[in-house]
Amino acid sequence: MKFEKEILCIGAGYVGGPTMAMIAYKCPQYRVNVVDILPEKINQWNSDTLPIYEPGLDEIVQKARGRNLFFNTDIEAGIKTADIIFVSVNTPTKTYGVGAGMAADLQYWEKTARQILDCAESSKIIVEKSTLPVKTAQAMERILNSGKNGVQFEVLSNPEFLAEGTAIADLENPDRVLIGSQQSQSGLKARDDLVAIYANWVDADRIVTSNIWSSELSKLVANAFLAQRISSINAISSLCEKTEADVSEVARAVGMDSRIGPKFLNASVGFGGSCFKKDILNLVYLCRHYGLEQEADYWEGVVSINEHQKERFVLNMLTAMFNTLAGKKVCLFGFAFKANTGDTRETPALTIAGRLVAENAQVVISDPKALDNARQDTKELKGDIQFIEDPYLAAKGCHAIAIMTEWELYRTLDYKKIFDSMQQPAFIFDGRNIVDHEKLFEIGFNVFPIGKPKKVHF
Ligand code: NAD
Ligand code: UGA
Repeated sequence: MKFEKEILCIGAGYVGGPTMAMIAYKCPQYRVNVVDILPEKINQWNSDTLPIYEPGLDEIVQKARGRNLFFNTDIEAGIKTADIIFVSVNTPTKTYGVGAGMAADLQYWEKTARQILDCAESSKIIVEKSTLPVKTAQAMERILNSGKNGVQFEVLSNPEFLAEGTAIADLENPDRVLIGSQQSQSGLKARDDLVAIYANWVDADRIVTSNIWSSELSKLVANAFLAQRISSINAISSLCEKTEADVSEVARAVGMDSRIGPKFLNASVGFGGSCFKKDILNLVYLCRHYGLEQEADYWEGVVSINEHQKERFVLNMLTAMFNTLAGKKVCLFGFAFKANTGDTRETPALTIAGRLVAENAQVVISDPKALDNARQDTKELKGDIQFIEDPYLAAKGCHAIAIMTEWELYRTLDYKKIFDSMQQPAFIFDGRNIVDHEKLFEIGFNVFPIGKPKKVHF
């Protein structure tokens, strides 16, 4: 069968895999090829056990794979035949040199640009899917257009807004698809080609176009605003704990104002995930680069409050448990950075585990999907750490439970059975405010929610 378009995606990660699976699933007329430098990841994409857990992903991969969705490692061949190339490689925070700890590390992205330049034999549209600092498209165009005569590259910005755990729903029914382009004739033509792909399933009024710099910046700003809401409510959670106000009641009252809205106001142990911290730090770095010190400080505050919230959580545990955790067994319910994913990047649970081990506590980690990642992540922590998936076995003999992830499973456990199997007095620290605090107190637990009065028996 002859396909209408050859689409390539470089980078088969949390974004590349699901976004391309959705395009292939919705558009059988296009051939979608996803490539990566990691053969083992590609093997997993071609197997029954996909490299990431995402509700609904298996079904759409199964429908499209082998029909018009292909995963392989032949990047060069893929570049040659593609009409349009999505670049979805990782852009972590730089760990070396100028901007270390703040700026985005663009080495993977630049390597990809150079590989496209080396291998391309015909003109192509290049789509920035990765999250990048504003003005990156300019650098990309300079690299790409430094080469062969007659081969033209048009760079578009098309940032991804999916959230993990709901990626498939977000991709199928996005709030918006953002496409930034140069305002030149060829830029606008390339933009229209990309709009046409999304128009196969996304309503026209949800496909937003803009200039390319606005598009790049909007992605950083969207994540900064979302994270800012969490840090705002978390900053209020400490005040609630001092004043006997209840953060959930405050969030509900505030969120009912239609100008504010109810979403992203759940106080927690802190936000995690691969992007919020890195994207805000990138924004902070950009502000400082342009001499905007106060603006940089403002956004940096969102990250500092988040670090403070995690530290506060551990200090609350320490204080509540008679100022020593040494030799005590603490069970973490959840290790993923949020529910419905096995992803543990920047998970608050790792920070908490590290701090507990530093207090010489014994740590038992439980999670329905993230235990393999938890084992990897905690390798460097020197201490007594066990991994037990079954929450009842994990909590047995423990002095305390700390809820790290809002998995549905943890709402409905038989806490009486758990309480009876624990050391007494038994403590529960609810880092997600997901369990029935009154009921747990009645069972006998000493209960410490976030931003709500504690319930203790002494
Ligand atoms: P990831 O680490 O899961 O995937 C990136 C993939 O790119 C990896 O498999 C890596 O092996 C591959 N890669 C790196 N260099 C390569 C190269 N030269 N050639 C081929 N493959 C290469 O990362 P991710 O979570 O998918 O994030 C990718 C980008 O999307 C980041 O910029 C991130 O900020 C952004 N983003 C992520 C999310 C999310 O939920 N994870 C959401 C929106 C945007
Ligand atoms: C986030 C954004 O929501 C996506 O739009 C964006 O595309 C993505 O980052 C990205 O650029 O990578 P994600 O990190 O997958 O998505 O998950 P979120 O649902 O945003 O949650 C992030 C963290 O905030 C989690 O640790 C979550 O538990 C926490 N959170 C979220 C709270 O503590 N309180 C809330 O009210 C909401």
